[in-house]
Amino acid sequence: MTANVTEPAPPTVDPSPTEPAGELDKSNARVREMFRQIAPRYDLMNHLLSLNIDKYWRSQAVKRLRLIPGVPALDVCTGTGDLAIAIADAAPDGVEVVGSDFCYAMLEIARRKRVAGSRSESIDFLEADSQQLPFASDRFQCVTVAFGLRNVADTDRGLREMTRVCRAGGQVMVLEFSKPTLPGLRQTYNFYFKHILPRVGQWFARNNKSAYSYLPDSVSRFPDGQALADRMQAAGLTDVKFTPLTFGVCTIYEGTKPESNSNPDGDPQ
Ligand SMILES: C[S@@+](CC[C@H](N)C(=O)[O-])C[C@H]1O[C@@H](n2cnc3c(N)ncnc32)[C@H](O)[C@@H]1O
Repeated sequence: MTANVTEPAPPTVDPSPTEPAGELDKSNARVREMFRQIAPRYDLMNHLLSLNIDKYWRSQAVKRLRLIPGVPALDVCTGTGDLAIAIADAAPDGVEVVGSDFCYAMLEIARRKRVAGSRSESIDFLEADSQQLPFASDRFQCVTVAFGLRNVADTDRGLREMTRVCRAGGQVMVLEFSKPTLPGLRQTYNFYFKHILPRVGQWFARNNKSAYSYLPDSVSRFPDGQALADRMQAAGLTDVKFTPLTFGVCTIYEGTKPESNSNPDGDPQ
């Protein structure tokens, strides 16, 4: 079932993109509709186009989480829920895992992936805009996002929200594509990403939003390495570090919410 027939309108805020604007439309409406269209094929395409390495990348992210019993964990832009499920499977007893996303069709697939009798059964998948999370401040022991922050219209607002709902001393983690720098690999990657992936992706996951041209476009415009680490620091995180994976095709970014910081910009909560 592609559950978009009775799709309720999710809460949204006006997008105010902070990346170099160019022509890339990252409005909430475009991004949500694009994921609605590709949702039924999203998992297949992910595993196919990444040659299954995406599973390894998420597992590396989960390994870095210091999960403690009794405090909830949040995965934003959770999509079809793979990272939330991996967190639930790795967590000690008593960790409530929540996955949020603003695309109902993606969440419906995530909900169907919960396995009865396993830890994933209790994951709460709920609809929310990552720029305006419906959670109290300082609630989660970790807040993660995998391949989602790049799609959020206002990156900094998304990062500030992740930081706000994380509790002091907790981890904020971003897993995102980055641009490999190794000569030779960079050219091969660029060729694959710009010429092969969009064609194969569009063919398999038909949509009228050019989803698989949007992917390399959005990656090439999105900050990576130190530039994204700086944005995380500006959002109020400390000890921000990043670890490239698979020759820099993907990078894990980690930061800690300091004891004293709850809202660096004084935005209304
Ligand atoms: C590339 S998918 C990643 C899904 C998943 N995290 C994974 O690892 O496969 C990006 C997801 O971000 C969601 N998204 C983009 N902008 C969002 C926003 N402002 N609020 C909530 N979800 C958003 C999309 O709906 C989509 O499900």
